[in-house]
Amino acid sequence: MQEQLAAILSRAETELPALDNRPAFEAAKARYVGPNGELTAVMKQMGTVPKEQRPAFGKAVNEAKLALQALLDRTLARLEESELAARLGPPIDPTLPCVDGTAGTRHPLTLVRDEICRILGTLGFTVREGPEVETEYYCFDALATPADHPARDLQDTYYLPEYARFGNVSRKADERYLLRVHTSSVQIRTMLAEPPPVRILSPGRVFRRDNADATHSANFHQIEGLVVDRGITVCDLKATLDYLFQSLLGKEAKTRFRPHYFGYTEPSFEVDFSAKHIAKIGKDWVEIMGCGMVDPVVLEEVGLDPQEWSGFAFGLGIERIAMMLYGIDDIRHFYANDTRFLRQFG
Ligand code: DAH
Repeated sequence: MQEQLAAILSRAETELPALDNRPAFEAAKARYVGPNGELTAVMKQMGTVPKEQRPAFGKAVNEAKLALQALLDRTLARLEESELAARLGPPIDPTLPCVDGTAGTRHPLTLVRDEICRILGTLGFTVREGPEVETEYYCFDALATPADHPARDLQDTYYLPEYARFGNVSRKADERYLLRVHTSSVQIRTMLAEPPPVRILSPGRVFRRDNADATHSANFHQIEGLVVDRGITVCDLKATLDYLFQSLLGKEAKTRFRPHYFGYTEPSFEVDFSAKHIAKIGKDWVEIMGCGMVDPVVLEEVGLDPQEWSGFAFGLGIERIAMMLYGIDDIRHFYANDTRFLRQFG
């Protein structure tokens, strides 16, 4: 019987390392240690072994069993490793030089986004990000945009009826998921998460139902700004935006505010800038963004007392600014991934 065990082991030692797939492994495993396997067959002979030899026999069987199990474990680990390697594909070395030798360039939208964040960073603004899949609460309700507001219309907003099944953004039972229509949702997320003073920027992609043409795209990028502190006034808002546009366009740049309406700011403004020294901008006043003083109902919604805290907010489109700064005449260039276009921003 000792010889039988030795023979089983020695066969396993040659067979198992040569296996290269799961079905073959499972079959071999059953053949060695399964209920009808070879080892089990030897164990069944226990009854025929004279009593005084049984302990030695039991010990030998046990040792063979452990050795077989170790062999099987090693084989399975090896097969799993090669299955993983097959899924990952051939190894790559990202430090090797690229075949065509040309380095990539940063995307113009990235350049403009980073420059605006850098400029306002010198005033103490830091960046917060929020999810692109949002709920109606953060995008609309908390921003005092009522259920019958046209911006919430199916014609303007992408809703995601199937998303509830994945839902990694918490929502109330009857709330719909949507692709955020603006970065203003991050105002709410920030104020709920952090006590004032707050001074944040939130760059990101936003989505609206639109047919693409030279000036429209169903997704584009915004930067949201939010300041909440004691004693914040329209002067702080105006000075911040003047500083931004003068840093971007030169000291000669000016801004002007026109009264406007947004549900979440009161008063609200549209901002125009003028940069007559830059010939390619052409027009005298160019409409560029929306802003205002955070509406007291929004502060109350996030649990802040409007008697104590006040704030301003603004939202600007990155594409619009990039098109103007670089003289780009068609918004679709940003998304076409044409390297002839992209390389110009090296
Ligand atoms: N959310 C607005 C839009 O997408 C832009 C905006 C206007 C943002 C006024 C603000 C604001 O924070 O105060 O058109």
